[in-house]
Amino acid sequence: MLQQLESLYKEACSAIETASDSDALQAWESKFIGRKGEITSLLRSVGQLPKEERANFGKRANEIKDELTALYTEREELVRQRELAHSLEEGEIDVTLPGRPIPVGGIHPANQTLREIYDIWADMGFQVFRTREVEDDETNFEMLNIPEHHPARDMWDTFHTTTPGVILRTHTSPGQIHAMRHFAPGPIRVILPGMCYRYEQISSRKEIQFNQVEGLAVGTNIRLSDLKGTIAAFARRMLGENQKVRFRGSYFPFTEPSMEVDVECILCGGKGCSVCKYTGWLEIAGCGMVHPTVLRNGGYDPAIHSGFAFGMGPERITMLKHDIKDIRYFWGNDLRFLEQF
Ligand code: PHE
Repeated sequence: MLQQLESLYKEACSAIETASDSDALQAWESKFIGRKGEITSLLRSVGQLPKEERANFGKRANEIKDELTALYTEREELVRQRELAHSLEEGEIDVTLPGRPIPVGGIHPANQTLREIYDIWADMGFQVFRTREVEDDETNFEMLNIPEHHPARDMWDTFHTTTPGVILRTHTSPGQIHAMRHFAPGPIRVILPGMCYRYEQISSRKEIQFNQVEGLAVGTNIRLSDLKGTIAAFARRMLGENQKVRFRGSYFPFTEPSMEVDVECILCGGKGCSVCKYTGWLEIAGCGMVHPTVLRNGGYDPAIHSGFAFGMGPERITMLKHDIKDIRYFWGNDLRFLEQF
């Protein structure tokens, strides 16, 4: 057995010289000194020897195992260094390779439309005026001529907070009151963009959050014809020079008279399609002349001042422009959708 041990030792010493990578070294380790290695199992079978030989054999076997372990550690370090040098060499920067693309963000489709809208109104002298999203009932409704028990409140399903009277704004119209109180009695040309919230059943056409862009002009001698001309000019800038616009009588408590703005369907050109529900027209905004009560609540004298207001939904306009079938994509944060814009 001693002889066997010595020849195994020689074998191991020469074999390790050929272990040139970590795999080979690992194989060497398990063949000789690993848990099931040959040296290890010889060491284990020391009991089979006659008593007087055991001490001698055990001593030599342990010596050999220690030596081989030291050899292994040394070799391991060498192989590691070699492999590192090799991988550094391989990983050398190849300046002829194309660079890695840097992912760039984009502007959300709703914001793209908003910016377009700002630009157009800015050209017509309207400045952006931002007001709060968390509103009080008074400004969102009362001041806009919608008393507490008025059935018109049904037009705006409301998110209430746990603080009575504090709500999420259901439209940007309360911004009219803030703007008037800020500028009164001076003239006003503002747009009031921002998020609105409604307690809606979410569907492909309805979301609980969406943007609106309110517009407000107050001054002397502002007439319905100014409203119509201004809105028509906006629609032509936004949707195309030959865009046809139609005004339909409607009702809002805070404007009198009130109208809906329709544009000729931009998808079928007025022929009738599923998007315009075969009417040839698409509704893009509500508008009207500011109600005398609202002017008064804003600090203006309706005998002297008049004004017009409108409110439009940029997501709706974006949906029409890009033929987007489901409004839920806007806040779904799905890159497959967002990357298309
Ligand atoms: N605030 C109205 C809505 O949310 C839209 C509107 C604004 C109508 C301004 C007239 C004037 O439906």
